[in-house]
Amino acid sequence: MAQPRVCRVAAAEDPLERAVNVPANEPAANSFVPNRENQRELRHALGCFGTGVTVVTIDTAEGPFGMTVNSFSSVSLDPPLILWSVDKRSARCRNFENAEHFTVNVLQQNQQDVAGDFAKNPMAFREGLWRNGGYGSPVLNHCLATFECVRETHYAGGDHTIILGRVLQATVNNGVPLLFFRGEFGSVA
Ligand SMILES: Cc1cc2nc3c(=O)[nH]c(=O)nc-3n(C[C@H](O)[C@H](O)[C@H](O)COP(=O)(O)O)c2cc1C
Repeated sequence: MAQPRVCRVAAAEDPLERAVNVPANEPAANSFVPNRENQRELRHALGCFGTGVTVVTIDTAEGPFGMTVNSFSSVSLDPPLILWSVDKRSARCRNFENAEHFTVNVLQQNQQDVAGDFAKNPMAFREGLWRNGGYGSPVLNHCLATFECVRETHYAGGDHTIILGRVLQATVNNGVPLLFFRGEFGSVA
């Protein structure tokens, strides 16, 4: 049986540097027990999981409201369920917890500006680029896919709230997805 390779980790002050500053032909290794002191490393590790990028949109008394989100995940086909999570430390959290309906708008590669806008500003709705959906939440135009949902329930998830939604309407367009990997936007090659 092949012996497991012994990884030599290059010495560096910063553990994140240590994880990347090794010769290309050797695997980088940085293993740790997550705790309050190394949250940055955990964020970096989690960022290795490349995702698509969505904007979750809701209707509020002040008008349409949104947030850039990559925690979106499919859950169930029957019934059709999806989830995403919202940071409880965000001032936007309460709005999303209270919203009975929401839309998950899956962004295309040419919508990086939309992702940037909604990361900074929940009211970043540009005229002509969105519409009122038929299920009580705004829908962004020109997305790769949209999922108009009714909130099924939400759960406590540490410093986030996990929102579970039932898909009432799914819409798919042709196109190429916007991706997010290690803190940067990208697309499929
Ligand atoms: C690619 C990307 C994905 C994000 N995903 C999430 C997410 O899943 N949940 C979340 O609560 N915030 C997420 N954020 C952060 C929010 O979009 C937004 O930047 C943050 O809520 C701003 O802080 P504030 O609400 O306190 O102003 C993401 C940001 C980016 C750029």
